[in-house]
Amino acid sequence: MEYAGEQRLFRFANKLHGWTHRAFLPRSGAAALSRAKQGLLVGNVTVIGAQWGDEGKGKIVDWLASRADMVVRFQGGHNAGHTLVVGDQTYKLSLLPSGIVRGTPSVIGNGVVLDPWALKAEVERLSEQGVEVTPQVLRIAETCPLILPIHRDLDGLREDASGAGKIGTTRRGIGPAYEDKVGRRAIRVCDLAHLGELGPLLDRLCAHHDALRAGFREPPVDRDRLLHDLAEIADFVLPFAGPVWRDLDEARGRGRRILFEGAQGVLLDVDHGTYPFVTSSNTVAGTTGSGSGMGPGAAGFVLGIAKAYTTRVGSGPFPTEQDNDIGQKLGERGHEFGTVTGRKRRCGWFDAVLVRQAVAVSGVTGVALTKLDVLDGFETVKICIGYRIGGERFDYLPPHAADQMRVEPVYEEIEGWPGSTRGARSWADLPARAIKYVRRVEELIRCPVALVSTSPERDDTILVRDPFAG
Ligand code: IMP
Repeated sequence: MEYAGEQRLFRFANKLHGWTHRAFLPRSGAAALSRAKQGLLVGNVTVIGAQWGDEGKGKIVDWLASRADMVVRFQGGHNAGHTLVVGDQTYKLSLLPSGIVRGTPSVIGNGVVLDPWALKAEVERLSEQGVEVTPQVLRIAETCPLILPIHRDLDGLREDASGAGKIGTTRRGIGPAYEDKVGRRAIRVCDLAHLGELGPLLDRLCAHHDALRAGFREPPVDRDRLLHDLAEIADFVLPFAGPVWRDLDEARGRGRRILFEGAQGVLLDVDHGTYPFVTSSNTVAGTTGSGSGMGPGAAGFVLGIAKAYTTRVGSGPFPTEQDNDIGQKLGERGHEFGTVTGRKRRCGWFDAVLVRQAVAVSGVTGVALTKLDVLDGFETVKICIGYRIGGERFDYLPPHAADQMRVEPVYEEIEGWPGSTRGARSWADLPARAIKYVRRVEELIRCPVALVSTSPERDDTILVRDPFAG
């Protein structure tokens, strides 16, 4: 059966190879073809955060991106913050897929909300660092909703007025832009080519926003200014725009390896996270298909990234938070400051209950455990294995925010390890008790560890299972 499938794939790949492809698709189809010829079916990989974001995805995504044929963002916007260290250069990306730094064809899928001015600023910043972002390497879905200045305004106004209900957003307009998308009044990338026909859509958009703005004693939307700003930025954005779903379909046909780059983390997912203290998109791996136009089988190997401890920025429940010397130590050793906002991250012990839940709801195949070295030198290390509210025990995070604030973690205490795990590249380099910690984590989250990261350096990684090998 499998052999027949491979033969079919090979015939299909051969046929596609004869077609004329758009400039965006690199012409090195030979590698994919030879893989198909050898009967090696290549898989996609999806990288997602298995906690509240900031799990150290940058390094791992960069390593995988260097081996992928294409890198795709499928949700979120420029609220994400990925730091890539390549050689002696550090790149900070918020919106662009990480493949862009090494020239890997990169895609911003329809599930992303796009701030065109932030895009331009990021492209210009990269250009100053010697990375040219051209339409040959970057494609943006024509159907991406735009984040407008009015979304940014609204995000800030609401946060300031929310008192104890403040979410602690990045104030980049993410939530309001997604609201307008599902409210069917978003201006999308394709509208930039039809600004003369924007009237009815603007009527809908302004009817909504003018009322909201009036509530905050803000003037109505300045339609002329908005149109002028859009006309100005359109020339920059449009050359990148295209039918991304078709590029991806062609890439699939040619046996390309696609890397889906998730932003934020599962606990910030609008359905599965610590609602309402979440972001406004689905961050789980299941979004890869809908956020790119590829269908449900797109995700491939789902690599969930989890820190060996836990951090969170913004407000909301955090059962294992250590608002004390331990938290301070974790923060200092782990350099826990946000890439996007520079905010200090809250720190605490590893919460196996939450990661187990994230693994389940996101269908994680293997976990990448990062920043193990931050735990070096602790006399004892704690792992949360359950919760208690009064006499009641929970083996999952209850859904209500009040209960989530109230849960008391039940800890298992593990002896710390002497010496350093920093820079370890094999199990043999790790102290025995550090290995014991990793094994216990695996057991508790019910998912194998595919790799362990022991420093920001790309090679300081213990590879157990190569995600691209399936
Ligand atoms: P928003 O995505 O800006 O609406 O923010 C909603 C919540 O998600 C806030 O708690 C943010 O701090 C958090 N958040 C958004 N993006 C990231 C990220 O990339 N890493 C960590 N937290 C994030």
